[in-house]
Amino acid sequence: MPDDMVDAHIHGVTNALAAGWRVLERGGAALDAVEEAVVIMEDDETFDAGRGSFLNRDGKVQLDALIMDGATLRAGGVGCVERLRNPVRAARKILSESPHVYFVAEGAERFAAEHGIALCKNEDLVIPREVERLRAYQAEAAQHGNDLFAPSSDDVTISHDTVGAVALDRAGNIAAATSTGGTLNKAPGRLGDSSLIGCGCYANNESAAVSTTGWGEPIMKLVLAKWTADRIQAGNLPEWSAQEAMNYLKQRLDGHGGIIVLNPEGHIGIAHNTPRMAWAYKTVRKQEAGIEKSAP
Ligand code: GLY
Repeated sequence: MPDDMVDAHIHGVTNALAAGWRVLERGGAALDAVEEAVVIMEDDETFDAGRGSFLNRDGKVQLDALIMDGATLRAGGVGCVERLRNPVRAARKILSESPHVYFVAEGAERFAAEHGIALCKNEDLVIPREVERLRAYQAEAAQHGNDLFAPSSDDVTISHDTVGAVALDRAGNIAAATSTGGTLNKAPGRLGDSSLIGCGCYANNESAAVSTTGWGEPIMKLVLAKWTADRIQAGNLPEWSAQEAMNYLKQRLDGHGGIIVLNPEGHIGIAHNTPRMAWAYKTVRKQEAGIEKSAP
């Protein structure tokens, strides 16, 4: 996150927090709160989600999202969708109105359309900033003689900005949602961690609600969201478990990323092993937002 994007990120997560809080304040469900929060960030071109996402190798936006209900373990996920402005809305429809959990590509778009969600053109999701970013990246990759130019732990600039939310409602239920455009210059059809249960997102009232951001391949291999929830179920606090997850990611696979965690008692954990990650949280007593350090 370059210096000149810091304010936009703080602004974006604060807006998302407000949208989620509005749901909770009127007694709404955690599931609705995380959906509304993530929609705000999908609509905000600052982030790698929805319009303004990183482009894949073909210059297209290809989106993944998951939403999960900690009370029932119901979940809905979409992968590699190209014509949905808000993939989390389609994921929510899958959770609520389908016996299945996961739809990909055209099948996911068809499911969304059949359930009242308008499809857009892929070009509607592409912005000039990202066209230029891809052009510069591919030019540099060509110079290195490697058109795949896979992300590495040294390159935290090409797999960031996935968005996520966790929430606890008055009924004591928790939920999580995660949405992403994935990594810059990814191969078409590449799916990241974000829409996979237990990798980029997880919620279970018996443990925690978790959302991750960062380089998806290592996060997937470690099933990191579930790994973190298991630490909490074993009696550890979210703050410690979030930090441990980031240590594990770095030590085991040299991965980079960030994580937000919430347990049904309302304890939170926020951690990242990248230089920056935008976060914001609110409780009945306190509201905070930040970008650089881990929060309590
Ligand atoms: N964490 C987003 C991705 O790697 O797709």
